[in-house]
Amino acid sequence: MSLSEEIQRRRTFAIISHPDAGKTTLTEKLLLYGGAIDRAGSVKAREGGAAAHSDWMSIEQERGISVTSAAMQFEYQGRAINLLDTPGHQDFSEDTYRALTAADAVVMLLDCAKGVEEQTKKLFRVASERKLPIFTFVNKLDRPGREPVELIDEVEELFGLHAVPMTWPIGSGTDFKGVYVRATGQIQVFERAKAGQKARVAGKGGLDDPEIAALLTPAELQQLKDDVDLMDHVLPAFDREAFLRGEQSPMFFGSAVNNFGVSEFLEEFLELAPAPGARPLMNGGEVQPEQPFTAFVFKVQANMNKAHRDRVAFARIVSGRFERGMDALHVREKKSIKLNYPHMFFGRERQIVDEAYPGDILGLINPGLFRIGDVLSAQGAVEFHAVPRFSPEQFASVRLADPGARKGFLKGLGQIAEEGVVQVFWPKGGAPLPILGAIGRLQFEVLQHRLKEEYACPVLLESRGFQMARWIEGGWPEPSRFWGELVEDAEGNPAILFENDWQRRTTAEKCPGLTFLEHPPK
Ligand code: G4P
Repeated sequence: MSLSEEIQRRRTFAIISHPDAGKTTLTEKLLLYGGAIDRAGSVKAREGGAAAHSDWMSIEQERGISVTSAAMQFEYQGRAINLLDTPGHQDFSEDTYRALTAADAVVMLLDCAKGVEEQTKKLFRVASERKLPIFTFVNKLDRPGREPVELIDEVEELFGLHAVPMTWPIGSGTDFKGVYVRATGQIQVFERAKAGQKARVAGKGGLDDPEIAALLTPAELQQLKDDVDLMDHVLPAFDREAFLRGEQSPMFFGSAVNNFGVSEFLEEFLELAPAPGARPLMNGGEVQPEQPFTAFVFKVQANMNKAHRDRVAFARIVSGRFERGMDALHVREKKSIKLNYPHMFFGRERQIVDEAYPGDILGLINPGLFRIGDVLSAQGAVEFHAVPRFSPEQFASVRLADPGARKGFLKGLGQIAEEGVVQVFWPKGGAPLPILGAIGRLQFEVLQHRLKEEYACPVLLESRGFQMARWIEGGWPEPSRFWGELVEDAEGNPAILFENDWQRRTTAEKCPGLTFLEHPPK
């Protein structure tokens, strides 16, 4: 296959959702379609229960795939699909945001009873800043939930995004019967499965098909005809260009756990989602996917397993054909390196790959060589826009178990922070130990674990009451005109940590000459 055929058949995306909306379940169904796993339940063993989630090691064991891989590839109908992992809930961290920098499209998964939830909003913001096209999948239609039109309005009100239904549910809760696929005018009626059994399709047909009339009640069929009329005449028509610009979101309805509406979604997704495209460069211009090989690192994952303490850097290929053993310029290090053992992940399997293409995610064994944002290139020094750092929401101070180990601690902290595990803030005016920032507490647990295991430097972490960091532009605030704690980040940029939004607002009012940024200056 030619390079451009390989590019055209690739789809690289991430699912964003609030915990419990059904992301794991949907992922599993997609992988089942792709033959990447052979039975449901193999993505995440759930026996550990919620308690185990706060412990990094158990997460690693329990989740297998999620923590140790950043993306999984599967094939479906001739397409190569890369599904990026975006861990949720307690595992929620900057990694989750960064995964979106490697995606070409996003699926926003909503629970039909809960609609848009907190974590979905945060992830949506990042996806829309990157102008990623966003699909919406409304899940759990087999449970009582909100009216589809209400959910369409909510997405529009919160995000200014026009959700355009591509499928439409017939009934909901215990009366959920199936979906109508607008593109084909076909109805799929599902057979409700008994507990523990897989759902089946009871029948297919158009709105006027006798087979469908036999499977739905006259009232259900009439309601569906009215709904179709509403969609066709009142709601805006789907416009692929508007979708690609991030203005419209094609919306699907289903039930992941019952496998209702999932293949209908997957098939349209593959048609509508964009193939890997050009990526802008720092100094203007862009790299086209057909150009020679380039890739950037968006995640560095330490394998917590002591038996093989490898560190994997995950790189998204932007352009060109990758071949195992090829040489590429490590742009930051200004040296050529041989890419010998690139891995890719297929369900539970980790395999060495010989070839890979734009959109694919390579796992590179990383002997401390890669940092987040590093670029590999077979076309000389290129620089993509930096992989962003995000404003931390959790803070902790550090105490050393052995006060004499400060030097080792600083070395370890420096190296681990470079990988993007935590953010480091030094209190202004000099302090022997920093304050650490993260999006999720798991990041602190990873740091603590690694300092102990890799640097023999056990530390105690103490939660701090700060809720946000803001980077200051325009100098330091005058004494007595600010609330919060003045700090410098690891690069020496002035910042301030606030305990609440009142402190932030009041400080901003008292220091009109200064700007308080949510992200570090680029
Ligand atoms: P997450 O990764 O987004 O956190 O969600 P996950 O897939 O783990 O799903 C959360 C819960 O919602 C699970 O139930 C799952 O079975 C259920 N679920 C997912 N999709 C559907 C759906 O379409 N309909 C219904 N009714 N439930 C759904 P659980 O009780 O937490 O776990 P389990 O023991 O059932 O696996």
